[in-house]
Amino acid sequence: MPESFFILSKDHLELAKDEIIAIAKTYDRFAKSKSISNLMIIQSKINWEKIAARATFAKISGQILRKMSGLFLGEDNFEILKNAKTFACRIVNLSSKQFDIPELESSMGDMISKLAPVNVDLKNPDIIIYLIFTNQENFFGFSKLEKTTPRPKKVKTHPHELDWKLARVMINLIGLKEGETVCDPFCGTGTILLEAESMGVKAIGVDFDEKMYQISKENLAINGFKSKLIKGDFSKFTSMSDKFDGIVTDLPYGTASKSSENPQELIKKFVAMLPRRKKIAIMCKKGFEKKLNMNPSKTYDIYRHKSLTRTILIK
Ligand SMILES: C[S@@+](CC[C@H](N)C(=O)[O-])C[C@H]1O[C@@H](n2cnc3c(N)ncnc32)[C@H](O)[C@@H]1O
Repeated sequence: MPESFFILSKDHLELAKDEIIAIAKTYDRFAKSKSISNLMIIQSKINWEKIAARATFAKISGQILRKMSGLFLGEDNFEILKNAKTFACRIVNLSSKQFDIPELESSMGDMISKLAPVNVDLKNPDIIIYLIFTNQENFFGFSKLEKTTPRPKKVKTHPHELDWKLARVMINLIGLKEGETVCDPFCGTGTILLEAESMGVKAIGVDFDEKMYQISKENLAINGFKSKLIKGDFSKFTSMSDKFDGIVTDLPYGTASKSSENPQELIKKFVAMLPRRKKIAIMCKKGFEKKLNMNPSKTYDIYRHKSLTRTILIK
């Protein structure tokens, strides 16, 4: 079974690791995972590129060719260079040992050039060969320069809008596939809808505020996205639960964002209406979740500033 590697940003490490596992399990429920520091190793039948295309916090990703006990590579390790004309070597040192990385990368490049008919191209290589050092094991793998898909555009923003990375990670954590539908009953500027559509997940947004509804509409239109938008109270989602597979939302905080009522009362009402057997990810102000009868399977705290920590609740 192929093994993939993902070097994660350390900003939200727990979220980042869980996101990789959730994406892998979305497509292969028997996928196995292992983490060493900010390195995630996934064993699954799906290709690393499919996981990498969705993963929010993966800085580098690729396929593992083998685990290594030393630094010795033979000709058989370079099968992957068969169709490549150019390559580059990269060392990722997650161990506590000190290495002269430029020196090591250049001698590895020399060694490979002798074993395979390929040239070094540091700017635009066909293949990148990775050596990853950790305190436990070393890995030898490869990757390709990723074609970056353009980010969804926003013509209008608002101070209370959600960070796109958190929107994306929430969608991934609940394992929505391409062609499935997410509902955001408090959609604001449409961040969750935009992230969903950029990953091929359909979306339905609801917001009671005319201004926010119009902003969402414009943000979707500029990207040519087709999410359904409804202007009205969040409770509208209860009458269309056969139209979506999961809910991902960011509730009003009672600060910059308008709320139809006290945000703590609103969240209580909202949670009481949540459909059973749907995938759910909610972001709210930390503390709001205490009086809820929600029994989340996982929670993540996201520090914003000294008077606001938010919580992501997954059900
Ligand atoms: C925190 S904001 C959502 C921000 C959004 N995730 C974004 O990225 O722009 C909460 C939104 O809930 C909306 N809202 C408040 N009370 C509502 C209600 N009763 N029904 C529907 N929407 C409501 C507000 O207008 C606001 O746009």
